[in-house]
This record gives sequence, structure tokens and C-alpha cells, in this order.
Amino acid sequence: MAEVHISTHPLVQHKVALLRDRRTDPKKFRELLREIAVLLAYEATADLATEEVEVVTPLGRASGRRLKERVGLVPILRAGLGLVEGIWNLMPNAEVWHIGLRRDERTLEPVEYYSRLPVSPTVDVCLVLDPMLATGGSAVAAVNILKRWGARRIKFVGVIAAEEGVRHLTTVHPDVPLYLAVAGEVLNDDGYIVPGLGDAGDRLFGTG
Ligand code: PRP
Ligand code: URA
Repeated sequence: MAEVHISTHPLVQHKVALLRDRRTDPKKFRELLREIAVLLAYEATADLATEEVEVVTPLGRASGRRLKERVGLVPILRAGLGLVEGIWNLMPNAEVWHIGLRRDERTLEPVEYYSRLPVSPTVDVCLVLDPMLATGGSAVAAVNILKRWGARRIKFVGVIAAEEGVRHLTTVHPDVPLYLAVAGEVLNDDGYIVPGLGDAGDRLFGTG
């Protein structure tokens, strides 16, 4: 059974309420998404492997630890891009691999339009980034692409999830843990999360 982590951190909840607010403009929306991404990534990376390292301080030798695993950030275009920058600042050595998926407006099925991964995996852990998990079709498709590529450890980092999307992703990929800020919302007839936050890509890029 997949792990589903819902952040209870007060800062996450505070920022998500602002993010959802219809009065939040694209500049503020981008800023909040970047900050929420950092807080969720802090939780999603809590089990990354480290190895011992020795450093020389101005006063002597100190033992410490450094990240052992190579991390790949995999934003699902477009809205997933809003989660990249903050996490990348935390882990500047992470590789960023883009997957382009758009939902067909009628069928709600994901349509792949961009994916250029190297021949074999160059990272140990992939964080799939997308603020919205609605039907779950896009997340499932992105994980399918990464698994076909050969990725073995994959985590999903999202902000708002519908119950249906969580069920879909955890059923098809029970080995992929989810890190979310809000879950349990419903879908309307157009496949939008209610109350959700509207169209994340449009609010992020000011295209709505
Ligand atoms: C949105 C969102 C997810 C997807 C979620 O992207 O960012 O990728 O919908 O829906 P699903 O769980 O039902 O697949 P959209 O297709 O609108 O593209 P965009 O990010 O380019 O706006
Ligand atoms: N994609 C969005 O951006 N918002 C939703 O509510 C559902 C899918």
C-alpha cells in the first residue's frame, strides 16, 4: 500500500490557503508555490541516504554527512514548473528532467507532448512535481514514463489532491509515496478539483 503523507505543518496550511484565494495574483501565486514546494520537499527527502564526510573547520576536524543519492526533479509541464525552483535551491545538484503532459479537455486523458530523458537513469530518486492531482491520469502517466526509463525510486510531490487522484495513483503505483498539502477533495464534471484552486498552470503563468 502506498504511503500518503499529508503535511500538517502550519506554514504549509497557511500558505495553501493564500494560494487558493482567487484574489492571489500570479506573482504572489508563484512565490507561494515556491515556498510550499520547499516545505513539502523537506518532508519528501527525509529518508534520503547520506554518507559520512569529514570537513576541516577553522578550529579542527568535524565529521558530518553528505547526500549520497542523486536526486532528479521531474516537473510535469506546465504547472509542475512552479515547484522546481524552491526545491532546486535546496538541492542545487539535483538534475531536472521535464515531462510534458496535457489533459485532453473532453476525455481528461493525459496526452504526452514532451519527454527527453537520457538513455538510462542518471539519478537514484525521482521527485515527480505537479501541484494538482485530479483524476490522477497525468501523475500515473509520468510515473509510467519514469519506470519505463528504469527509475526505481519515485516519489510524488503535489499540493492539492482529489480523492479520486490519490486512489488512482496509489492503486496503479503502490510503490510511489505521495507528499501533499491537501487531500480528499472532489472533482466537478469538468474534472476540476473542488474547491481546489482553479487552473494551476493558468494562475502560475497568468494565462487564465
Ligand atoms: C493540470 C495539472 C496536472 C493535471 C492534473 O495540468 O497541472 O498536470 O492537470 O489532472 P489529472 O490528475 O486529471 O491528470 P494541465 O493538463 O491542465 O496542463 P497545464 O499544467 O499545462 O495547464
Ligand atoms: N488541473 C488544474 O490545474 N486544476 C484542477 O483543478 C484540475 C486539474
